[in-house]
Amino acid sequence: MSAPLSREELKKKREKYLVPGVKQLFAEPPHFVRGQGQYLFDEKGQEYLDMFAGIVTVSVGHCHPKVLKRTVEQLQTLQHTSTIFLTQPMVDLAEKLAEITPGNLSKSYITNSGTEANEGAIVLARVASGRQEVIALEHSYHGQSHLASTLTANNTYKQPVAPAAGVVFAANAYCYRCPFKKTPESCDLECALDVERVIETQTSGQPAVMIAEPIQGVGGAITPPDEYFVQVKKILEKYGVLFIADEVQTGFGRTGTNMFGITDCGVQPDFITMAKGLGNGLPIGAYITTAEIADKGLKSIINTFGGNPVSSATALAVIETIAEEKLMENSRVVGGYLIEGLKELQKSFPILGDVRGKGLMVGVEMSEPGSKRPLPAECARVVELSKDSHVVLGKGGLYGNTIRIKPPMNITRENVDTCLKVMRQALEKVAAVGVR
Ligand SMILES: Cc1ncc(COP(=O)(O)O)c(C=O)c1O
Repeated sequence: MSAPLSREELKKKREKYLVPGVKQLFAEPPHFVRGQGQYLFDEKGQEYLDMFAGIVTVSVGHCHPKVLKRTVEQLQTLQHTSTIFLTQPMVDLAEKLAEITPGNLSKSYITNSGTEANEGAIVLARVASGRQEVIALEHSYHGQSHLASTLTANNTYKQPVAPAAGVVFAANAYCYRCPFKKTPESCDLECALDVERVIETQTSGQPAVMIAEPIQGVGGAITPPDEYFVQVKKILEKYGVLFIADEVQTGFGRTGTNMFGITDCGVQPDFITMAKGLGNGLPIGAYITTAEIADKGLKSIINTFGGNPVSSATALAVIETIAEEKLMENSRVVGGYLIEGLKELQKSFPILGDVRGKGLMVGVEMSEPGSKRPLPAECARVVELSKDSHVVLGKGGLYGNTIRIKPPMNITRENVDTCLKVMRQALEKVAAVGVR
């Protein structure tokens, strides 16, 4: 292999040849050339602790030996046929998904990405129900295609083009900034009731489906109260509306207690959509639904790359690895330790307005004490300074003021200690300057 380009050369080349919308997390990005476990290495061989896993994708660690072996074996045996031919890995994967998803979800469509999984699920929900309207939540993120970006309620990721038709939004369960100005102690889950208000006032009364993330990822790890989805599901059932749990970020044990985040919420969805962690970095997505829904009227689908043997064999190895290495359990234990540590940190730095999440799906929202004014510049500074100290954190939220910590699920308590130490140092520097 030829020597990697310097950062400056690569930055210039990227600017010249990629459309400018393909944004970068860091102002001064390292040039990553290698990954191993929970670590990344730059072009100078320097190690970074990866606390963001790509974008919440490297579930079992970078270049995991078992997963890699299966990927390479499949690449060397049969790389491609497409869905019109009979091959086994895609079918084995669908069988495995039926085994690990809750309830009677049993029939899958394997895609290349989360966006495509969401598109496909909405299309099937519309076909199967004979209805059209779709409900999504404010602050959601569901992908970048025309329909998926319409379903996304965050203007950062919505291009100024006409949206897809038939999508309406309900308020989200965002306790830190309650849309109804309530506190968890004084509320009757108005956010859940808002779904009924939206059905009554913004739809024909017969919407096809609602899509929601169990914990909003790009939205900044916004974590609803325990009862929220139970109440929402009751309303959906009253109006005969199907429910898609978008588990692109929360899936595969990341929340620490169940393979899928919606099970933590005590709700059985009609569809689960997934991607990211399923492939540990190889492109793959899927939806799974019930036989009853799947068998209702879908016409022919072909997909050139969806369910390809390499991504499917890799995904099977990822699911096996999560079980063998008890990574869901690790997400619960190490994630709990992380959240505790962040709450301690919050005591020293009141600009850490809210620490939230479950397992290794964690967010820290930064805001001015008292007024809760979002602090995006300070958040960007903490993320940048942490990177300079070789800890990679993510960033998100509607206001860009939430630190996102969603590492590979194999991280250790020592990794958490390193992360907290580096965040403390960064916060000290930010606090020394004062909020702008
Ligand atoms: C919850 C959620 N759904 C869907 C998507 C879209 O997935 P992809 O980027 O694989 O198209 C994302 C991506 O971040 C996501 O976080």
